[in-house]
Amino acid sequence: MAHYAPAVAHISEDLLRAVAAAAAAATPPAATHPAATPPSGGGEVPGFKELLYLAGLEVVGQICLDARMGFLDGEERMSPRARLILDSVRGYQTASNRAMYGVPMWKWLPEWYRPPPPKKKETVGKKFLSPVWISYIIQRFPGCFRDLMRHKDNLYRLIGEVVDDKLGSEQVFGEENSVLNQLRRAPGVDRRDVKATVVDYITAGVETVGNSVLFAVAMLAAEPGARRRLQRELDKQQQQQQQHGPYLRACAQECFRLYPTACQIARILEEETEVCGGFVLPRHTVVLCHHRIAARQEENFARAEEFLPERWMAPEGEELARRCDRSLVRRIKTSFMKF
Ligand code: HEM
Repeated sequence: MAHYAPAVAHISEDLLRAVAAAAAAATPPAATHPAATPPSGGGEVPGFKELLYLAGLEVVGQICLDARMGFLDGEERMSPRARLILDSVRGYQTASNRAMYGVPMWKWLPEWYRPPPPKKKETVGKKFLSPVWISYIIQRFPGCFRDLMRHKDNLYRLIGEVVDDKLGSEQVFGEENSVLNQLRRAPGVDRRDVKATVVDYITAGVETVGNSVLFAVAMLAAEPGARRRLQRELDKQQQQQQQHGPYLRACAQECFRLYPTACQIARILEEETEVCGGFVLPRHTVVLCHHRIAARQEENFARAEEFLPERWMAPEGEELARRCDRSLVRRIKTSFMKF
């Protein structure tokens, strides 16, 4: 990841500029009382979440395509291609949220997606409307599943063009270990696979990155002590040109613990499985590991509801770890929490 640090630092600077511009453009709310006026005038950044999503998209684009796409440049300065990619990503996110949280018609009627055009003989059947005609009509109405596929197809085409440009050019791009170079060299992976993988990364990396930063900002905003300590570490890092930031890392881990962006991991059992208490789960059961619940239980983390980044730091966190039955701190640090 060190390879991407300078580029991500540039993106962070662009994000800060965009946030400052959005804050400056916002009209401060009329104060009903002089004491109600925030000291910096306004204090609210309209569209903050959207800016974080754009930064997430820019970071993932940089990591996957070794290219700056300019999503933070503002709508009018963005290239037409970046504009189209952004529209498709937004459309894809909206459709996938509707598919996940809306009435899931698409699950029960998946065969109605993109049906074949009705054959002539279907039009003269005895029935008023044959199933083929019904599906043809449904196809003409907006549906989240159809939108999902349309936006994903658009993304595949648009991102595919960027991949083609990159892989087609003679220039040596990025580092040897960049994601695109690794995909390019992977045996048995052809260009279509590279494009599909990059599209997956881009769609997987936007809201996850954006929401994680959003939660972290919200938590640090509510914790002045942690904020000051973090600021001191960052200032020192800058002065001494260091990359190592143990408290920053601990803050990120504590944010993931309290507000995990993805709060559960799901698996479908391949075989009948006995779990604790003698319960037997049949084959094909969906099992959820809900780590947000586990992360807030006192037997796993002492003072579980409190924001205490130092629990992730040795030796500071050891006393806290000793105070609970099965401290998950060490196990998490050495197992699945790699970022
Ligand atoms: C803080 C940010 C992120 C969080 C919290 C997050 C979380 C997750 C989770 C919980 C899974 C499911 C893992 C499983 O079921 O085993 C997952 C899968 C995945 N994520 Fe992320 N992710 C993040 C960022 C990203 C980014 C930036 C990318 C791409 C560059 C990405 C690409 C993927 C892919 C491709 C998968 C599927 C992996 C597989 O099926 O083997 N994620 N992510």
